[in-house]
Amino acid sequence: MDIKESIKRLAKEKNAVILAHYYVDGAIQDIADFVGDSLALAQQAAKTNADIIVMCGVHFMGETCKILCPQKKVLIPDPNATCSLAESCPAKEFEAFVKAHPDHKVISYVNTTADIKALTDVVVTSGNARQVVEYFPKDTPIIFGPDHNLGNYINSITGRNMLLWDGACHVHEKFSVEKIVALKKQYPEAKVLVHPECRGAVVKLADKVGSTAALLKYSIESEASTFIVATESGILHEMQKRAPQKTFIPAPPDDATCSCNECNYMKLVTLEKVYNCLLNESPQVEVNEEVARRAVLPIKKMLEISEKLGL
Ligand code: 13P
Ligand code: SF4
Repeated sequence: MDIKESIKRLAKEKNAVILAHYYVDGAIQDIADFVGDSLALAQQAAKTNADIIVMCGVHFMGETCKILCPQKKVLIPDPNATCSLAESCPAKEFEAFVKAHPDHKVISYVNTTADIKALTDVVVTSGNARQVVEYFPKDTPIIFGPDHNLGNYINSITGRNMLLWDGACHVHEKFSVEKIVALKKQYPEAKVLVHPECRGAVVKLADKVGSTAALLKYSIESEASTFIVATESGILHEMQKRAPQKTFIPAPPDDATCSCNECNYMKLVTLEKVYNCLLNESPQVEVNEEVARRAVLPIKKMLEISEKLGL
Protein backbone atom coordinates (compact mmCIF):
# COMPACT_ATOMS: atom_id res chain seq x y z
CA MET A 1 0.00 0.00 0.00
CA ASP A 2 1.34 3.46 -0.77
CA ILE A 3 2.31 5.68 2.17
CA LYS A 4 -0.48 8.21 1.57
CA GLU A 5 -3.10 5.45 1.69
CA SER A 6 -1.45 3.92 4.78
CA ILE A 7 -1.64 7.28 6.58
CA LYS A 8 -5.31 7.69 5.68
CA ARG A 9 -6.12 4.14 6.81
CA LEU A 10 -4.30 4.57 10.14
CA ALA A 11 -5.95 7.94 10.73
CA LYS A 12 -9.38 6.40 10.15
CA GLU A 13 -8.68 3.41 12.44
CA LYS A 14 -7.51 5.71 15.23
CA ASN A 15 -10.12 8.43 14.75
CA ALA A 16 -7.35 10.94 14.09
CA VAL A 17 -7.69 14.20 12.22
CA ILE A 18 -4.76 15.49 10.17
CA LEU A 19 -4.40 19.27 10.15
CA ALA A 20 -1.83 20.99 7.93
CA HIS A 21 -0.58 24.53 7.48
CA TYR A 22 -0.20 25.93 3.96
CA TYR A 23 3.59 26.03 4.40
CA VAL A 24 4.18 22.27 4.71
CA ASP A 25 5.11 20.26 1.66
CA GLY A 26 2.36 19.85 -0.95
CA ALA A 27 2.28 16.06 -0.48
CA ILE A 28 1.35 16.57 3.19
CA GLN A 29 -1.30 19.15 2.31
CA ASP A 30 -2.80 16.59 -0.08
CA ILE A 31 -3.33 13.93 2.61
CA ALA A 32 -4.58 16.34 5.29
CA ASP A 33 -8.22 16.44 6.37
CA PHE A 34 -7.94 20.19 6.67
CA VAL A 35 -5.41 22.71 5.33
CA GLY A 36 -5.50 26.28 6.59
CA ASP A 37 -3.83 29.34 8.07
CA SER A 38 -3.04 29.64 11.77
CA LEU A 39 -6.49 31.00 12.64
CA ALA A 40 -8.40 28.31 10.75
CA LEU A 41 -6.21 25.57 12.25
CA ALA A 42 -6.95 26.77 15.79
CA GLN A 43 -10.66 26.96 14.93
CA GLN A 44 -10.60 23.41 13.56
CA ALA A 45 -8.76 22.07 16.60
CA ALA A 46 -11.28 23.72 18.92
CA LYS A 47 -14.22 21.93 17.29
CA THR A 48 -12.87 18.52 16.28
CA ASN A 49 -14.45 15.30 17.54
CA ALA A 50 -11.34 13.28 16.75
CA ASP A 51 -9.46 11.48 19.55
CA ILE A 52 -6.09 12.34 18.05
CA ILE A 53 -4.92 15.51 16.31
CA VAL A 54 -1.90 15.26 14.02
CA MET A 55 -0.62 18.80 13.60
CA CYS A 56 1.43 19.04 10.42
CA GLY A 57 3.09 22.35 11.06
CA VAL A 58 5.40 23.78 13.68
CA HIS A 59 5.54 23.21 17.41
CA PHE A 60 3.56 26.26 18.59
CA MET A 61 0.65 25.06 16.42
CA GLY A 62 0.71 21.71 18.22
CA GLU A 63 0.81 23.53 21.56
CA THR A 64 -2.22 25.61 20.60
CA CYS A 65 -4.12 22.40 19.77
CA LYS A 66 -3.10 20.79 23.06
CA ILE A 67 -4.05 23.87 25.09
CA LEU A 68 -7.46 23.94 23.41
CA CYS A 69 -7.97 20.16 23.67
CA PRO A 70 -6.10 18.97 26.78
CA GLN A 71 -7.96 15.64 26.81
CA LYS A 72 -6.86 14.72 23.28
CA LYS A 73 -3.58 13.27 22.04
CA VAL A 74 -1.82 15.89 19.94
CA LEU A 75 0.92 14.50 17.72
CA ILE A 76 3.56 16.47 15.87
CA PRO A 77 5.52 14.65 13.16
CA ASP A 78 8.83 16.35 14.03
CA PRO A 79 9.34 18.04 17.41
CA ASN A 80 12.34 19.94 15.96
CA ALA A 81 9.95 21.91 13.78
CA THR A 82 10.12 25.07 15.85
CA CYS A 83 9.72 28.68 14.67
CA SER A 84 12.32 31.46 14.58
CA LEU A 85 9.64 34.04 15.37
CA ALA A 86 8.44 32.18 18.48
CA GLU A 87 12.09 31.76 19.50
CA SER A 88 12.72 35.49 19.13
CA CYS A 89 10.59 35.99 22.24
CA PRO A 90 12.07 34.26 25.32
CA ALA A 91 9.57 34.04 28.19
CA LYS A 92 11.79 35.57 30.92
CA GLU A 93 12.62 38.69 28.89
CA PHE A 94 9.03 39.09 27.70
CA GLU A 95 7.76 38.77 31.27
CA ALA A 96 10.13 41.55 32.37
CA PHE A 97 8.92 43.72 29.45
CA VAL A 98 5.28 43.13 30.45
CA LYS A 99 6.03 43.85 34.13
CA ALA A 100 7.72 47.12 33.16
CA HIS A 101 4.43 48.27 31.56
CA PRO A 102 1.75 47.18 34.04
CA ASP A 103 -0.94 49.45 32.53
CA HIS A 104 -0.64 47.82 29.08
CA LYS A 105 -2.84 45.10 27.61
CA VAL A 106 -0.76 42.33 26.08
CA ILE A 107 -1.59 41.14 22.57
CA SER A 108 0.51 38.23 21.31
CA TYR A 109 0.76 36.70 17.89
CA VAL A 110 -0.11 33.00 17.84
CA ASN A 111 3.51 32.32 16.76
CA THR A 112 4.62 32.15 20.41
CA THR A 113 5.31 29.49 22.98
CA ALA A 114 2.67 28.52 25.56
CA ASP A 115 4.69 30.42 28.21
CA ILE A 116 4.24 33.67 26.26
CA LYS A 117 0.53 33.01 25.75
CA ALA A 118 0.23 32.56 29.51
CA LEU A 119 1.44 36.19 29.89
CA THR A 120 -1.04 37.46 27.28
CA ASP A 121 -4.51 39.08 27.38
CA VAL A 122 -5.49 38.09 23.87
CA VAL A 123 -3.84 36.11 21.10
CA VAL A 124 -4.06 37.13 17.43
CA THR A 125 -3.13 35.61 14.10
CA SER A 126 -2.33 37.47 10.91
CA GLY A 127 -5.95 36.72 9.90
CA ASN A 128 -7.53 38.72 12.71
CA ALA A 129 -4.82 40.98 14.19
CA ARG A 130 -6.35 44.21 12.90
CA GLN A 131 -9.84 43.41 14.13
CA VAL A 132 -8.71 42.17 17.54
CA VAL A 133 -6.53 45.27 18.09
CA GLU A 134 -9.47 47.48 17.06
CA TYR A 135 -11.65 45.62 19.55
CA PHE A 136 -9.83 47.63 22.25
CA PRO A 137 -10.69 51.34 22.68
CA LYS A 138 -8.24 53.52 20.78
CA ASP A 139 -6.59 54.94 23.91
CA THR A 140 -5.80 51.49 25.41
CA PRO A 141 -2.05 51.13 25.88
CA ILE A 142 -1.02 47.87 24.21
CA ILE A 143 2.09 45.70 24.09
CA PHE A 144 2.24 43.74 20.83
CA GLY A 145 4.64 40.86 20.34
CA PRO A 146 6.66 39.23 19.08
CA ASP A 147 6.63 40.21 15.39
CA HIS A 148 7.75 43.82 14.88
CA ASN A 149 6.85 43.80 11.16
CA LEU A 150 3.28 42.71 11.83
CA GLY A 151 3.11 45.16 14.76
CA ASN A 152 4.34 48.06 12.61
CA TYR A 153 1.87 47.14 9.89
CA ILE A 154 -1.07 47.00 12.34
CA ASN A 155 0.04 50.32 13.89
CA SER A 156 0.10 51.87 10.41
CA ILE A 157 -3.39 50.72 9.39
CA THR A 158 -5.10 51.34 12.73
CA GLY A 159 -3.36 54.59 13.72
CA ARG A 160 -2.30 52.97 17.00
CA ASN A 161 1.01 53.29 18.71
CA MET A 162 1.40 49.83 20.22
CA LEU A 163 4.63 49.08 22.02
CA LEU A 164 6.38 46.41 19.96
CA TRP A 165 8.57 43.47 20.89
CA ASP A 166 11.53 43.28 18.48
CA GLY A 167 11.02 39.80 17.04
CA ALA A 168 10.88 38.54 13.47
CA CYS A 169 10.53 35.49 11.24
CA HIS A 170 13.74 34.58 9.43
CA VAL A 171 11.79 33.60 6.29
CA HIS A 172 9.61 36.70 5.92
CA GLU A 173 12.48 39.08 6.81
CA LYS A 174 14.46 37.81 3.84
CA PHE A 175 12.35 38.89 0.85
CA SER A 176 14.25 41.11 -1.53
CA VAL A 177 12.69 44.45 -2.51
CA GLU A 178 14.98 44.69 -5.56
CA LYS A 179 14.06 41.24 -6.83
CA ILE A 180 10.34 41.85 -6.40
CA VAL A 181 10.68 45.18 -8.25
CA ALA A 182 12.58 43.38 -11.05
CA LEU A 183 9.86 40.69 -11.28
CA LYS A 184 7.21 43.40 -11.41
CA LYS A 185 9.05 44.97 -14.38
CA GLN A 186 9.10 41.61 -16.10
CA TYR A 187 5.40 40.96 -15.33
CA PRO A 188 3.82 44.43 -15.13
CA GLU A 189 0.28 43.03 -14.87
CA ALA A 190 1.16 40.81 -11.91
CA LYS A 191 -0.38 41.51 -8.50
CA VAL A 192 2.02 41.45 -5.56
CA LEU A 193 0.76 39.45 -2.56
CA VAL A 194 2.55 40.07 0.75
CA HIS A 195 2.29 38.50 4.20
CA PRO A 196 2.40 41.12 7.00
CA GLU A 197 5.39 39.38 8.63
CA CYS A 198 7.46 40.88 5.77
CA ARG A 199 9.52 44.06 6.21
CA GLY A 200 7.75 47.40 5.69
CA ALA A 201 9.65 48.02 2.43
CA VAL A 202 8.18 44.81 0.99
CA VAL A 203 4.69 45.56 2.34
CA LYS A 204 4.86 48.88 0.45
CA LEU A 205 5.06 46.96 -2.86
CA ALA A 206 1.89 44.99 -2.14
CA ASP A 207 -1.41 45.00 -3.98
CA LYS A 208 -2.73 42.80 -1.17
CA VAL A 209 -1.41 42.30 2.36
CA GLY A 210 -2.89 39.45 4.36
CA SER A 211 -2.64 36.10 6.07
CA THR A 212 -1.96 33.05 3.93
CA ALA A 213 -5.72 32.35 3.74
CA ALA A 214 -6.44 35.97 2.76
CA LEU A 215 -3.77 35.92 0.03
CA LEU A 216 -5.15 32.63 -1.29
CA LYS A 217 -8.71 34.02 -1.40
CA TYR A 218 -7.53 37.17 -3.16
CA SER A 219 -5.61 35.19 -5.77
CA ILE A 220 -8.67 33.04 -6.54
CA GLU A 221 -11.14 35.94 -6.69
CA SER A 222 -8.93 38.49 -8.48
CA GLU A 223 -9.32 39.04 -12.19
CA ALA A 224 -5.54 39.17 -12.53
CA SER A 225 -3.83 36.09 -13.94
CA THR A 226 -0.29 36.48 -12.56
CA PHE A 227 0.79 36.88 -8.94
CA ILE A 228 4.13 37.49 -7.24
CA VAL A 229 3.82 35.82 -3.85
CA ALA A 230 5.86 37.12 -0.90
CA THR A 231 5.27 34.52 1.77
CA GLU A 232 6.58 31.01 2.40
CA SER A 233 6.39 29.25 -0.96
CA GLY A 234 4.35 26.25 0.31
CA ILE A 235 1.21 28.36 -0.22
CA LEU A 236 1.78 28.16 -4.00
CA HIS A 237 0.66 24.52 -3.90
CA GLU A 238 -2.90 25.40 -2.87
CA MET A 239 -2.96 28.54 -5.05
CA GLN A 240 -2.01 26.53 -8.12
CA LYS A 241 -4.50 23.80 -7.20
CA ARG A 242 -7.39 26.23 -6.73
CA ALA A 243 -6.56 28.41 -9.76
CA PRO A 244 -4.74 26.12 -12.21
CA GLN A 245 -5.08 28.56 -15.11
CA LYS A 246 -3.19 31.33 -13.22
CA THR A 247 0.54 31.90 -12.81
CA PHE A 248 2.09 32.14 -9.35
CA ILE A 249 5.67 33.34 -9.00
CA PRO A 250 7.41 32.95 -5.63
CA ALA A 251 9.11 36.18 -4.50
CA PRO A 252 12.83 35.45 -4.02
CA PRO A 253 14.86 36.04 -0.87
CA ASP A 254 17.87 38.42 -0.69
CA ASP A 255 20.46 35.66 -0.46
CA ALA A 256 18.98 33.77 -3.40
CA THR A 257 20.69 30.71 -4.57
CA CYS A 258 17.09 29.56 -4.85
CA SER A 259 14.17 31.39 -6.47
CA CYS A 260 11.74 30.70 -3.63
CA ASN A 261 11.74 31.19 0.12
CA GLU A 262 11.05 28.17 2.31
CA CYS A 263 10.63 27.69 6.05
CA ASN A 264 13.14 25.00 6.96
CA TYR A 265 11.07 24.13 10.05
CA MET A 266 7.83 23.55 8.14
CA LYS A 267 9.73 21.46 5.61
CA LEU A 268 10.85 19.04 8.35
CA VAL A 269 7.39 17.47 8.15
CA THR A 270 7.49 14.49 5.78
CA LEU A 271 5.02 11.75 4.85
CA GLU A 272 7.22 9.17 6.62
CA LYS A 273 7.18 11.20 9.84
CA VAL A 274 3.41 11.64 9.64
CA TYR A 275 2.99 7.88 9.20
CA ASN A 276 5.38 7.02 12.05
CA CYS A 277 3.89 9.47 14.51
CA LEU A 278 0.41 8.11 13.84
CA LEU A 279 1.62 4.51 14.13
CA ASN A 280 3.52 5.07 17.38
CA GLU A 281 1.26 7.84 18.71
CA SER A 282 4.45 9.74 19.37
CA PRO A 283 5.92 12.36 19.61
CA GLN A 284 3.10 13.93 21.59
CA VAL A 285 2.86 17.60 22.43
CA GLU A 286 2.62 18.24 26.17
CA VAL A 287 2.02 21.57 27.88
CA ASN A 288 2.53 22.19 31.59
CA GLU A 289 -0.92 22.17 33.23
CA GLU A 290 -0.57 25.49 35.04
CA VAL A 291 0.78 27.20 31.89
CA ALA A 292 -2.05 25.70 29.83
CA ARG A 293 -4.66 26.86 32.35
CA ARG A 294 -3.51 30.47 31.81
CA ALA A 295 -2.68 30.21 28.09
CA VAL A 296 -6.11 28.90 27.12
CA LEU A 297 -7.82 32.15 28.17
CA PRO A 298 -6.27 34.49 25.55
CA ILE A 299 -6.64 31.83 22.82
CA LYS A 300 -10.34 31.37 23.65
CA LYS A 301 -10.76 35.14 23.76
CA MET A 302 -9.33 35.37 20.24
CA LEU A 303 -11.70 32.64 19.03
CA GLU A 304 -14.69 34.36 20.68
CA ILE A 305 -13.87 37.76 19.12
CA SER A 306 -13.27 36.14 15.72
CA GLU A 307 -16.61 34.33 15.91
CA LYS A 308 -18.42 37.52 16.90
CA LEU A 309 -16.85 39.34 13.97
CA GLY A 310 -17.51 36.48 11.54
CA LEU A 311 -13.81 35.82 10.88
P1 13P B 1 -0.77 32.65 8.90
O1 13P B 1 -1.03 31.20 8.94
O2 13P B 1 -1.59 33.40 9.90
O3 13P B 1 -0.89 33.25 7.54
O4 13P B 1 0.74 32.89 9.40
C1 13P B 1 1.82 32.45 8.74
C2 13P B 1 2.90 31.89 9.58
O5 13P B 1 3.96 32.37 9.65
C3 13P B 1 2.64 30.65 10.26
O6 13P B 1 3.82 30.25 10.79
FE1 SF4 C 1 7.83 30.56 12.03
FE2 SF4 C 1 8.48 32.00 9.94
FE3 SF4 C 1 8.41 29.38 9.71
FE4 SF4 C 1 6.11 30.77 10.01
S1 SF4 C 1 7.52 30.84 8.29
S2 SF4 C 1 6.70 28.90 11.08
S3 SF4 C 1 6.80 32.42 11.34
S4 SF4 C 1 9.81 30.53 11.02
